[in-house]
Amino acid sequence: MKAIEDRSLDEFRLMLAGRELVPIMQGGMGVNISTAEMALAVAKEGGVGHVSDAMLPDLVDRLFGTGFTKMKAGLCRAADAALGKAAFHFPLEEVRAAAKQYIESVMQKKTGDAKEGLVFVNVMEKLTMNDSLSSLRARLLGALDGGVDGISLSAGLHTSSFSLMSEHPRFRDAMLGIVVSSRRALNLFLRRSSKTERMPDYIVVEGPLAGGHLGFGMDWANFKLADIVRDVKAYLAENGLSIPVIAGGGVFTGTDGVRLIAEAGAAGVQVATRFTVTQESGLPEAVKQRYLDAEETEIEVNGVSPTGYPMRMLKSSPAINASLKPQCEAYGYILDRGGCAYLKAWEAADAAGVVKEGIAEKTCLCAQMRNCKVWTVGALGHRLKETTVRGEDGRWILPTTADVFNDYRYGVNDEVTARK
Ligand SMILES: Cc1cc2nc3c(=O)[nH]c(=O)nc-3n(C[C@H](O)[C@H](O)[C@H](O)COP(=O)(O)O)c2cc1C
Repeated sequence: MKAIEDRSLDEFRLMLAGRELVPIMQGGMGVNISTAEMALAVAKEGGVGHVSDAMLPDLVDRLFGTGFTKMKAGLCRAADAALGKAAFHFPLEEVRAAAKQYIESVMQKKTGDAKEGLVFVNVMEKLTMNDSLSSLRARLLGALDGGVDGISLSAGLHTSSFSLMSEHPRFRDAMLGIVVSSRRALNLFLRRSSKTERMPDYIVVEGPLAGGHLGFGMDWANFKLADIVRDVKAYLAENGLSIPVIAGGGVFTGTDGVRLIAEAGAAGVQVATRFTVTQESGLPEAVKQRYLDAEETEIEVNGVSPTGYPMRMLKSSPAINASLKPQCEAYGYILDRGGCAYLKAWEAADAAGVVKEGIAEKTCLCAQMRNCKVWTVGALGHRLKETTVRGEDGRWILPTTADVFNDYRYGVNDEVTARK
């Protein structure tokens, strides 16, 4: 038997949708950091790529020149003037249409090659657009309409999401998975979703070292990904369930992935941070350079996201302690019956006349993510510089998505192969 260090992820296969896949999922990164080009490049190599459905009406406007944002801003302003923001409802047919248009445009670019992997979409429950369940339903149905291979449900318990999709003709043929950070969250999800007589096809266990929002409190450092994977596997066994468990958060080398498979029983890994600096990533070039420059001391977990979840980011993110006027009309996607923690913080600062000093407690997440001013990254973001070299002009050379994917796939001995 080979030692773990000598094995590569390529020696394993993930079985999904009756297909043998390279056991590497590139995780969803909103807003459009995980672009169509990134997800398609991952699928081309035989893995699972994710696009994200975060703020799709705005993204579709930027990609295809539609007018969803303008319409949303107009309707929201009118509602606000008449009855306050709580009266605003994004027209649900339009939310569904934007999701369908985007996903269709991505899926049409798949090659159809027999060895090609899958393209999934990441759907965060927290993006409610005022009317949580019905807007979530419109987003999920739009993704299914657009022919997506699968949907990963994240950032919330998603206790109703299966029921919301259950009438759709593709409910039983698309791959559906849930992202959890504990046995407890999985149990709550399964108890509710089992009413649709459909089990998830896969479970992503996201540990405390991930980028983006964390499914933990500020005590995140007390948890370990491999332990949670084992606990979730034990829960599945106790309940007679056999569902592949994908482990994510802090998997930086292929060997990290092999360990989770060989020692904790994972069926594959979900990885994201290493893809943030690829040529296909939707971050602006200057931000990719900032990510590559990052030192360990610059990465923090803070509470500035108005979702209520801790989030990991670079301390130098321009969105931290900014004084941006709330952009709910155009870009607000977490309005919950008119409320948003940033809106409240900004209004309080405005009343006290101290807005200009910056809003330290919260950030205008939708607008700031959309404008690439929240530099979220995984705990090992400071190791990104190991993955490439500087060019003659002193700037980091950006790896391709295929470079990163294949380094995970074939890498052994805890090594990272730097792009030359
Ligand atoms: C820049 C960035 C943006 C992210 N955005 C999302 C998101 O929109 N939805 C989500 O469920 N997870 C998001 N994540 C989490 C990833 O999908 C993934 O599960 C996690 O980051 C894996 O850990 P790693 O980054 O250490 O590889 C994001 C991660 C990063 C780095």
